[in-house]
Order: sequence, then structure tokens, then C-alpha cells
Amino acid sequence: MPFSGLAAAALLLLLLSMANSTIACLEQEKSSLLRFLAGLSHDNGIAMSWRNGIDCCVWEGITCSEDGAIIEVYLVSKGLEGQISPSLGELRSLLYLNLSYNLLSGGLPEELMSSGSIIVLDVSFNRLDGDLQELNSSVSDRPLQVLNISSNRFTGEFPSTTWEKMRSLVAINASNNSFTGQIPSSFCTGLPSFAMLDVSYNQFSGSIPPGIGKCTALKVLKAGHNNISGALPDDLFHATSLECLSFPNNDLQGTIDGVLMIKLSNLVFLDLAWNRFSGTIPDSIGKLKRLQEFHMNNNNISGELPSSLGDCTNVITINLENNKLAGELSKVNFSNLHNLQALGLSSNYFTGTIPDSIYSCGTLTWLRLSRNKLQGQLTEKLENLKSLTFVSLSYNNFTNITGSLHILKSLRNLTSLLIGSNFIHEAMPEDETIDGFENLHVLAINNCALTGKIPNWLSKLKKLELLLLHNNQLSGPIPTWINSLNFLKYIDLSNNSLIGDIPTALMEMPMLKSDKIEDHPDGPRVSPFTIYVGVSLCFQYRAASAFPKMLNLGNNKLSGLIPVKIGQLKALLSLNLSFNNLHGEIPQSISDIKNLMGLDLSSNHLTGAIPSALVNLHFLSEFNVSYNDLQGPVPIGGQFSTFPSSSFAGNPKLCSPMLVQHCNLAEAAPTSPTSTKQYIDKVVFAIGFGVFFGIGVLYDQTIISRYFG
Ligand SMILES: *[C@@H]1O[C@H](CO)[C@@H](O)[C@H](O)[C@H]1NC(C)=O
Ligand SMILES: *[C@@H]1O[C@H](CO)[C@@H](O)[C@H](O)[C@H]1NC(C)=O
Ligand SMILES: *[C@@H]1O[C@H](CO)[C@@H](O)[C@H](O)[C@H]1NC(C)=O
Ligand SMILES: *[C@@H]1O[C@H](CO)[C@@H](O)[C@H](O)[C@H]1NC(C)=O
Ligand SMILES: *[C@@H]1O[C@H](CO)[C@@H](O)[C@H](O)[C@H]1NC(C)=O
Ligand SMILES: *[C@@H]1O[C@H](CO)[C@@H](O)[C@H](O)[C@H]1NC(C)=O
Ligand SMILES: *[C@@H]1O[C@H](CO)[C@@H](O)[C@H](O)[C@H]1NC(C)=O
Ligand SMILES: *[C@@H]1O[C@H](CO)[C@@H](O)[C@H](O)[C@H]1NC(C)=O
Ligand SMILES: *[C@@H]1O[C@H](CO)[C@@H](O)[C@H](O)[C@H]1NC(C)=O
Ligand SMILES: *[C@@H]1O[C@H](CO)[C@@H](O)[C@H](O)[C@H]1NC(C)=O
Ligand SMILES: *[C@@H]1O[C@H](CO)[C@@H](O)[C@H](O)[C@H]1NC(C)=O
Ligand SMILES: *[C@@H]1O[C@H](CO)[C@@H](O)[C@H](O)[C@H]1NC(C)=O
Repeated sequence: MPFSGLAAAALLLLLLSMANSTIACLEQEKSSLLRFLAGLSHDNGIAMSWRNGIDCCVWEGITCSEDGAIIEVYLVSKGLEGQISPSLGELRSLLYLNLSYNLLSGGLPEELMSSGSIIVLDVSFNRLDGDLQELNSSVSDRPLQVLNISSNRFTGEFPSTTWEKMRSLVAINASNNSFTGQIPSSFCTGLPSFAMLDVSYNQFSGSIPPGIGKCTALKVLKAGHNNISGALPDDLFHATSLECLSFPNNDLQGTIDGVLMIKLSNLVFLDLAWNRFSGTIPDSIGKLKRLQEFHMNNNNISGELPSSLGDCTNVITINLENNKLAGELSKVNFSNLHNLQALGLSSNYFTGTIPDSIYSCGTLTWLRLSRNKLQGQLTEKLENLKSLTFVSLSYNNFTNITGSLHILKSLRNLTSLLIGSNFIHEAMPEDETIDGFENLHVLAINNCALTGKIPNWLSKLKKLELLLLHNNQLSGPIPTWINSLNFLKYIDLSNNSLIGDIPTALMEMPMLKSDKIEDHPDGPRVSPFTIYVGVSLCFQYRAASAFPKMLNLGNNKLSGLIPVKIGQLKALLSLNLSFNNLHGEIPQSISDIKNLMGLDLSSNHLTGAIPSALVNLHFLSEFNVSYNDLQGPVPIGGQFSTFPSSSFAGNPKLCSPMLVQHCNLAEAAPTSPTSTKQYIDKVVFAIGFGVFFGIGVLYDQTIISRYFG
């Protein structure tokens, strides 16, 4: 029978494999492994698997050589807890030890670092702590090539002499710990193969030490997110193999020496962002032919863009935002930057127009030129940039909004468009031929003093999540089609001249009604793209989903009552109806908006009492009903004990123990009993304030423009 034939073959195979492995596993090595096991407080079933077999070469995570010596211990993501036993250092043939992604604690045994056999030691993503000891000077040459101790809790100064004994060392990743002192440079003498050092996300301080220039094979040097000060030493530029030089978020200063810079002609990735560098961008930047990523944002760089930037033909990302650069962008001929995907030049002093040459960068997906002094009109050539997903031109002096929108509408992949604070006093185009924009999630045309109405073409932007039209002079009613924008959740129409009632359609906004609806699946992502593999994110910007659900209709000419149905907008975090002509009572239903953190109804003609149910809004931290015609007692309890009297000013008929006008006994407000629950609410509030409010309501337009503008 074929079946028994197969079974026999399988049995034979099994016997063979057993025979093969029973040669192996030295008793002494087995005992070292068992001592390692004994050091663990939690092993997630490894012990079971290990004790079941006599031959340790077939144990989970163990690999032996043909003669039965253990050459690899691979116990990654096993949920191991406890200490790493020095006994692993006794495995005389161990080459690879990988214990990454566990919960191991305690120190890294010196026996592993000084092992006479280990060439790859990876204990990253654990909870190891303490200092890394210098190896005893009597130790002879060690074979270690790769050491990954990143994402642990190591402290103290980094060893320096230890590395002299590791002549084969290639890479050290010590990032994301709490090392202090100066970054090490001792790798650079006598280690001919040393290629990678990552010490980012630590607490290193002091200057960049001399000696790195002797690292002739060093390709990657990352030391971002420390507290390193001083200038880039001349010596550093002798490390001519460098491909990735990354020192963002430190305290470095001084200028970039153009003559020295050319020496680093292998650079692919250069990140010096968030420091205090000054001076100009050297002309010699154009000689860095391999450069793909250039981040120099948030420094103190001045002068003009060097025209040679146009020679960096491989560049993918240029981020020079938040500096003091000036002059015309046309200094650079962008035509040859065929790979350019992200160009960030915002918050500088650039003047003139957008140069035509940018329009030949067909790969551009991300363009931010906001907060400069650019002027002129967009030209039809912009339509070449079909890949654009993010465009911000806010806070410049561009003109012709009608022409601009007709050009921009053809960019089918556009998800975010921010053009506020331009086009001053122009008319909002209402023309139905503005179609397209079908992928737009974020639209900001604020601060333009635009006249006209809220245009009907907006009703076609079915994916819209954020709409910012505040600080214009738009008139007419709030359109009733607004509730057809199923993903809209952040609406700022404040400071316009909108008239009529608050439409009931607005009470039907799906995203404001429910927390449960997901954001639009293809919304803007946190990072538009990552480029150089293994290196930092390009530009970060907030996903639209990070924004709070908000409705701001303040400072208009809206009249009528506040709809009772407003209580349906249960997902709102912030509601502002201030400075309108609203009358009638404050609907008690507002107390159904349980997560509300900000409520501003000030400067209307509201009458009646403040509904006492509002004390149930436990997250309410900004409350303003001043300058209305409210009467009766101010509710007591809940968040109301935290609001200043200015929240109630200008309502002479309101009374409260806290206000000038005290209440008669007859009209005293019902007090809610002070209870444990109230205390808990306070704590919840405190957490709410930190977590939600901090990233929530305070994300007003200034902060939005910080991220998007
Ligand atoms: C350790 O194992 C993890 C998970 O397989 C792997 O990503 C990592 O590259 C390994 N470490 C080394 C140094 O090879
Ligand atoms: C270094 O090793 C030598 C010889 O093994 C030993 O006598 C000495 O105590 C060690 N020193 C330290 C600091 O461990
Ligand atoms: C640790 O760093 C080494 C060297 O860069 C790398 O090969 C390895 O993949 C890293 N380990 C993990 C878990 O990422
Ligand atoms: C170092 O390790 C961290 C994780 O701890 C990783 O994010 C980083 O990319 C590694 N550095 C390099 C240069 O591979
Ligand atoms: C730093 O380590 C922590 C804990 O392992 C981890 O959650 C975090 O992602 C790491 N950060 C970086 C930048 O690698
Ligand atoms: C950074 O270093 C400076 C001295 O160079 C010191 O005054 C400052 O406190 C340090 N900052 C942090 C966050 O460690
Ligand atoms: C910025 O650079 C200018 C020179 O261009 C210098 O005068 C000024 O002090 C620098 N500012 C800071 C904060 O370093
Ligand atoms: C920019 O470079 C392109 C290609 O090299 C060239 O055709 C064009 O004339 C240049 N433009 C300007 C304004 O110099
Ligand atoms: C537009 O986006 C789609 C989907 O992300 C992508 O496949 C397409 O290549 C993009 N078009 C351009 C011109 O970049
Ligand atoms: C904006 O540009 C116009 C010309 O297009 C000019 O008259 C005006 O002064 C500029 N405004 C500012 C603030 O630069
Ligand atoms: C605005 O732009 C459109 C399209 O580019 C153009 O036809 C129109 O003449 C421009 N208007 C003004 C006033 O320049
Ligand atoms: C309201 O908008 C106008 C432009 O239409 C602007 O000039 C004014 O400063 C804005 N007011 C507030 C309080 O922001």
C-alpha cells in the first residue's frame, strides 16, 4: 500500500535525523543553557520545550555545528523576562546571540562582550540597564563584529578602550538608551572595518570628539536627539566614506565649511536639522552628486539658495524650513532634479515668484512654501506636477484665487491644500466649473478676507475631513448640503459674515455625530513617505485623524435658536458659537456631548438659565457664556468650580457665590453632593486635560498651520 510506504519513509527520515543530532550537544554546553534558563523569571514555555529533549542541539532557538557545538542562540520575541546569565559566555563556539525583543533586565554580562567567539550580539529592545563595563585590559583581541544594544535602558559613559580589542568590529547600534558623556570616537583608531555607529536618542553631550576622521571605513554616523554642542570639527570631514551623516536635534552651531564639505562626496543622507547652524549653504553642495536627502531645517541659515543646489541631481528630499534664507527661488534651476519628491522651504524670507523650473519636477509629491514673501500667480505649468499630494502656499502674497483653483483642481492626487493668507480681498470663486479635488482631505483657505459665499463646488469634495475658511468675509447662509460631506470633522467658519439660522443639516454631520465612524481610509498619513531605508522619516506632519472634532461658527451673523438637536453631535470636542445673534435658551441637550472640552457661547443674546446638566460634562475645561442675558444661579459642582468669573461676565441676572451677584436662598442652585465620584471625575479631567486637551482643542489654526502650513 502506498500509504505504508510513505509512513516507512517518514519513519526512516525521522530516525536518520535523530541519529544525526544525537551525536551532538556537549553536556557542558547544555548545562550553560540550563543556567541561562534558570536566570529567567519568565520563559514563555521555552523551558518546557528544552526539558523535553535530551539533545540541546534540537532545542528551540539553538543551532549547532556539525560536531555538536552550539553556534547560534536565537530567542527573539519570546517574552523572556529576567536576567541574562553570564553562562552564555561559556559557549566556546557561539557565533550569533540574538535575544532582541524580549523583556530582559539587569546588566549585559561582561562575559558576552568579552566572549572569544561571539561575532554578532543583539540584545536590542529589552530592558537592560546599568553601565557598560570597559573590558579588562588584559583581555586579548575579541572577534565581535556587530553589537546591537539599542532600545534598552543603559546609562553611564560609553566604553572607550574596550573597542581597541575588537579589531573586527563593523557596527554598533547603541541608540535609544540613556548614555551620557561625550560620544565615543575610539573606534576609529585601529578598527579598519568599522562602518556604522548609531548613538542617537541618548543623552550624550559635549562636543564631537576629534578622531572620527580616522574612521576611514565609516559609512553611517548617527547621533541625533542628544545634547551635543560645538561646531562640526574639521577632522570629521576626513571620514570620506560617510554616506549617512545625521546629527538632528542637538545643540550644534557654527557654519558649514564648503571646502571641507566636498570631501564627503559619498554622502547620500545629510541631516543637521534642529540645531543652531548659521552662515550660508555652501556652493559646494552641488558637488555632492549622490545626495538624496538634505535636511537642514530649523537652524539659523541665512543668505540665498546656492544655484549649485540644482546640480544635486539625485536629491529626493530638500528640507530647509525655518531658517533665515532669502532671495529668489529662481536662483536654483530645479529642472534637473528629476527625483525630487519633497521640497520644504517654508518659514524663510524668500521673495519673487515660484520659478518655472520647479514645474518640471514631475516626481514632486510634497511642496511646502508657506510663510515666505512669495507673490505672483500660479501658472498652468503646475499641472505637470501630477504626483503632488501635499501643497502648502499659505502666508505669502499670491494672487488670483480663481485662476489658482482652476489650476490646482487638475491635481488628482492632491490630499492637502493650504493656501490661506493670500489672495487678500479677492472673491471666492463660486463657479461650478471648479470640479476635481476629489481626493482632497484638508482644505484651508483662511485669512484671505475673501468675499462671496461658501461655494457649492465644496459639496463635491466627498473626502474632505478638515475645512478651514475662517477669517474671511463670506456672507450668505451655511449651505444645507454640508451634511453630505461624510468625513468632515473639523469645521472652522469663524469670523465671516454668515447669516441665517444654524442649519439642522449641520446637526446631521456623520463624523460629528459618532465616534465610531472610521476616518477616511486613504486619508493623509503621518509621514508622506520614507526614503533612505533605515533612516529617519522625511517630513512629519499630522495625519488628519490627529485633529479634534470641532465646530467653530464664532464671530458671524447667525441668528435664531441654538438647535436642540445639537446634542446629537456627540463626538464634538469643541463647540464655538460666540459673537453671533443667537437668542433663546441654552439647550440642555448640550450636556449629551460628553467629551466636550471647550464650549463658547459668549456674546449672543441667550436668555434663561444655564442648564445644570452641564455639570455632567467632566472634560469641559474652557467654558464661556459671558455677555448674554442669562439669569438665575450658576450650576455648582463638576467642572464649574474651575471656571473663572470672567466666563460668566456681562450677564447681570446670573448669580453665584463666586459672582458679585449672590443668589437668594430661593434661587440657590442644586448642589451636587461632593463624593468620591466627583474626585474621580477630577482625576479623569486632569488626565483628559493633559492627553486630550493638550493635543485637542488647543490645536487651533495656529497649530494646524504649524503642522500643515
Ligand atoms: C536578530 O533577530 C531579529 C529578528 O529576526 C533580526 O531582525 C535582527 O536582524 C537580528 N539581529 C542581527 C544582528 O542579525
Ligand atoms: C583583569 O584581569 C586580571 C587577570 O585575569 C585580573 O587579575 C584583574 O583583577 C582583572 N581586573 C579587573 C578590573 O577585573
Ligand atoms: C541591530 O543592529 C544590527 C546592526 O545594525 C542590525 O543588523 C540588526 O538588524 C539590528 N537588530 C534589530 C532587532 O533591529
Ligand atoms: C538602531 O536601532 C534602532 C532601534 O533601536 C533602529 O531604529 C535604528 O534604525 C538602528 N540604526 C541603524 C543605523 O540601523
Ligand atoms: C526606544 O525604545 C522604546 C522601548 O523599547 C521603544 O518603544 C521606542 O520605539 C524606541 N524608540 C526609537 C526611536 O527607536
Ligand atoms: C545640554 O547641555 C548644556 C550644556 O552644554 C546644559 O546646560 C543643558 O542642561 C543640557 N540639556 C539637557 C537637556 O541635558
Ligand atoms: C543667527 O545668525 C546670525 C548671523 O547670521 C547671528 O547674528 C545670530 O546671533 C544667530 N542667531 C542665533 C540664535 O544663533
Ligand atoms: C534650466 O536647466 C534646463 C536643463 O538643463 C535648461 O534647459 C533651462 O534653460 C534652464 N533654465 C534656466 C532658467 O536657466
Ligand atoms: C496617484 O495616486 C495613486 C494611488 O496612490 C498612484 O497609484 C498614482 O501613481 C498617483 N499618480 C501620480 C501621477 O503620481
Ligand atoms: C503683495 O503683492 C502686491 C503686488 O502683487 C503688492 O502690491 C503688495 O504690496 C504685496 N503685499 C505685501 C504684504 O507684500
Ligand atoms: C487669473 O488666472 C486665470 C487662469 O490662469 C486667468 O485666465 C485670469 O486672467 C487671471 N486673472 C487675473 C486678474 O490675472
Ligand atoms: C477677521 O477676519 C478679517 C479678514 O476678513 C481679519 O482682518 C480680522 O483680523 C479677523 N479678526 C480676527 C479676530 O481674527
